[in-house]
Formats: sequence, C-alpha cells, structure tokens
Amino acid sequence: MALKTSNPTKTKSWEKLKSHFQEVKSKHLKEFFNSNANRAKELTIEWDDFYADFSKNRITKETLDLLFELANEVNLKDAISKYFEGDVINATEGRAVLHTALRAPKSAEVFVNGENVIPEVHTVKEKIKNFTESVVSGNHKGYSGKPITDVVNIGIGGSDLGPAMVVDSLQYYKNHLTTHFVSNIDGDHYAETVKNLNPETTLFVIVSKTFTTQETLSNANSIRDWFLKSQPKEAVSKHFVAVSTNIESVKEFGIAETNIFPMKDWVGGRFSLWSAVGLSISLAVSYKNFESLLAGAHKMDEHFRTSEFENNIPVTAALLTVWYNNFFKAESEAIIPYTQYLNQFATYLQQGIMESNGKSVDRDGNKINYQTGTIIWGEPGTNSQHAFFQLIHQGTKLIPTDFIGFVKSLHGNKDHHNKLMSNYFAQTEALMNGKTEDEVLSELKKQSLSEEEIQKLLQFKIFEGNKPTTSLLIQKLTPENLGKLIAMYEHKIFVQGIIWNIYSYDQFGVELGKQLAKSILKELENNNSNLIHDTSTQDLLSFYKNNS
Ligand code: F6P
Repeated sequence: MALKTSNPTKTKSWEKLKSHFQEVKSKHLKEFFNSNANRAKELTIEWDDFYADFSKNRITKETLDLLFELANEVNLKDAISKYFEGDVINATEGRAVLHTALRAPKSAEVFVNGENVIPEVHTVKEKIKNFTESVVSGNHKGYSGKPITDVVNIGIGGSDLGPAMVVDSLQYYKNHLTTHFVSNIDGDHYAETVKNLNPETTLFVIVSKTFTTQETLSNANSIRDWFLKSQPKEAVSKHFVAVSTNIESVKEFGIAETNIFPMKDWVGGRFSLWSAVGLSISLAVSYKNFESLLAGAHKMDEHFRTSEFENNIPVTAALLTVWYNNFFKAESEAIIPYTQYLNQFATYLQQGIMESNGKSVDRDGNKINYQTGTIIWGEPGTNSQHAFFQLIHQGTKLIPTDFIGFVKSLHGNKDHHNKLMSNYFAQTEALMNGKTEDEVLSELKKQSLSEEEIQKLLQFKIFEGNKPTTSLLIQKLTPENLGKLIAMYEHKIFVQGIIWNIYSYDQFGVELGKQLAKSILKELENNNSNLIHDTSTQDLLSFYKNNS
C-alpha cells in the first residue's frame, strides 16, 4: 500500500508549532536550564549503549509534544509499518525499501511480491561468510598460488562510500588484508591505487548495483587491462568478483556466476552496505565483525520500530531537524564525531541524507513551498574546532550540531581520551552558554588593559551562545555500536522524508548530469557534435580541446 500523503504545513500541529515558535525563538538555552532543574534528564534518551542528550536544543517539552503531534498527524506510525513490511514506499521507482531486511534474523518474515525475502538474504550472507573465510584464511589463492594480501573495492556512491566509511571506522578490528577503494573516474585514482599492488595477490571487488555506472565500469575495465598486462586471462576468475543486481551484464564483463554476489533492487545504493555491497567490509574486518555490524543495526531497527516517539532516538533527532529547518530556517547541520575513526562519517552521511531528501516535489507531485533536505557537513573533533568552529560559535548562521563521542577509547590511552572528551563537553557548553558582556569585561579587566582598550575589544569577545547541539555519548566504537549509529541516521532520513511528504528513495536529480556527460564525451572523442551549448560551456570546451 502506498504511503499516505499530507502537506505538513497544512496540519493543525504545524499551525501550533508556528505560534509556539514565536514564544521560543528568542529564548536562550540558559533560561531553559535555569527554569527547569530536570531538563537534562527529561530530554535525554538512554537506550542500550547510547546516551542521547537532546537538552541543549532550543526546545521545550511542549516543542517536542507538538512535533510528536505533527508526526502523528502525518501518519508516521503507519509509514514505519509500511517501511518495515516491504510496501512499495519508493513509489517513483516502484520498489520496496528494505535495507532493514538485510539485518533481520533468519526467523523474520518480510514479503516482497508475495515472497519471503529473508531466506535469500541469509543465503547471500552465507556466501559472503564462506568467501571471506576462504580469503582471510589464505585458502583462496591467487592464480599463481599465492594468498591474497590486498582487496580493491571498485565502486562509486553507495557502492563505495558505505564500505569505505565502515572499513575506515573499524580499522581497529581489521585483519591482515589491506583494503583500497577506487571510485573516481579520474584515471589518476585507479592508477595511483594499483601502482604498488601485486596483481598475483590482489582481489578486485567490482560493486555496482546497476552495473551500468560509467565510473565503475571504466575503472573496472582499466584495472582488468592493467591486470592482464602481467597475468593470463584464466587468472581473472581468481582475482575478480562482483556485487550487482545485474547478473547478465556482470557475466558479459567476464565474471563467472559463482563469483557474483547478488543484491536486490529493494536495496537503495546509499543504504546498501548491509548487503553484498558490504563484501569489502567483511573481507577487511572478518565476517564475525560484519555480522556484529548488522546485529547492531537490527537492534536500532527494533528500537525505532517499537519505541514510543518520546523514547525514540531517530524520531526525536528527525523532528529536531524539521524544527530547525522549517521554523528557525537553519540551512545546514554539522556532524562532529569525537574519534578519528569516524573521519569519513559525515561524507558518508552526505550521500545518505542529501541524495535522499534533496527533493522539491511532494508525494502528490506538487512543487513544494517549504524547505526540505538540509546540507550536511562535518569533520572529526578536535580538528574541526581548529578549522570551522569559529563560524558555528560567532557566525551569523544557526548550525545545529551533532556531537558524537565515545566513553572508552579503543587503544585505551586515558590521558588522550580525557583531553579529547574534555573538548567534546567543553564545546557543547561553550556553544550553549557563550560569553556574556560581564564575563568578557571581568576577563579583560584582569589583563590590566586601559578602559579605552577594553571598550575597543569588548564587542568582539562577546559570544551570544544559544547554539543548539545534540550530544550522543556511546560506550565504545564497536562494530555493533557502529551498526546502531548508522541505522539511527538511516531512520532519521526516513522520518524526515515522511514529515516533508517527499519520496526519499529515488535520485533522479543525479541522472541529468550523467546523461549530459555521456553526450559531451562523444563530442570530445569525435570532435564534432550536434549539441548546442550555451556560450560559457562552448568556450570552456574549446579551451579544453585546444589545450589538451
Ligand atoms: O549517484 C547516483 C547513484 O545512482 C547512487 O545512488 C548510487 O549509490 C551510485 O550512483 C552508484 O550506483 P551503482 O551501484 O549502480 O553503480
């Protein structure tokens, strides 16, 4: 059954939120804390290894109640059931959206076109497990009889970002295999990657849901040519495997069916790391850690599916985005993990969030007159503090920020970890409290400056504060907890899409550029074209052609 549609801005709760916003918008976070000693407790959700503190957001209990009312008014509960039950909620592409089925236990039942998909999910998992174990143990040998030492994932977008982010995030759990990622069509990317690799001990995993993506196919072809310069044709089957829904095209490429790890069209590219797309993850950290990642995601699925909205981390997080985006008119959100391991986390979420919710037509096909998807950005703390935090502290823009921290470090250096986490705590406090005129004055007075000098500096040193943050404090960066964290953001994306009445699971916007690039490529190769360009593009093309 289709998702129900309703324009959020026409709901009763939206009207109430609008007038409530007038009461809340100029209140300072400090006032909220001063007037309610229980605020931190009331606005924190503790679940499993997660401590999610929403209290440093510019909300009251009433704000949340109204946002939950909005969620009810747009039938969020019904939508969640449809999402998990395999309804065709990606209606523009005529597909179910079932990354949740990929981490469901064997006993679960999820039907697509009358067929329970769970047995096949587990058959593919078994294939991933067996292959991983044979490669990691050295039983799977390269053509010349040597064990595999390096794995190269060839893919782009969801076929690269998810595996790359997870492998990087879980490097503490890595086995002896070295993993590399080639994504960009830039020939320097693959050339730089393979230049020091030994073809005899390298395994290439070609990952493309459609097996039509120009970048991935070009890289796969060039890498195979590089491979065949030193290896015989028969060696390909020992060194190239593929992950795809498009079995025929993979076979045409020259990969035998036994070396294909299938995936289904109900897995969106940007949500596919849990499927066979995660093969590189499994190879890098061994199957048991891949399984834990999936188990963690499943736990978050259950939390999201079954918890009341008041105790539901993804629902609360999503509604806060709506609050800032549509009422405060915030344009972007920052995601700052206080661990170097999550270095690629914001980049990964950029695709997840922006490709999903960067839409301007609602589910009824109408042009939208309210704001949808936010701009996502971020880098690990503390590096980001020394880069862009100035703008979050004293700039003119409101940037709600997620702070993700871990109670324990992996290598256990307490001295460093305390220093790291003191920054995590200090930043959210500083962003909230700012620094008042009185505080700045007394600080400047202590520096024995003249009155004139003090007055000159005063305004620049005042921090308004009142900058909203959410603090996620997680016990430890384990594969299971990473699974929960990623799934949390996946469900946040879903809830936002439901509220904004958009389709989150297509990405037609990316297609236009792809089509045009194909035509322009022909023009560059043949030097003639029937294409009529604007004068800017025409001149750029001429400059390129004349100089290349
Ligand atoms: O960027 C558009 C997109 O379709 C993404 O959604 C997808 O993750 C990526 O291209 C790669 O697609 P494929 O896995 O089919 O090569």
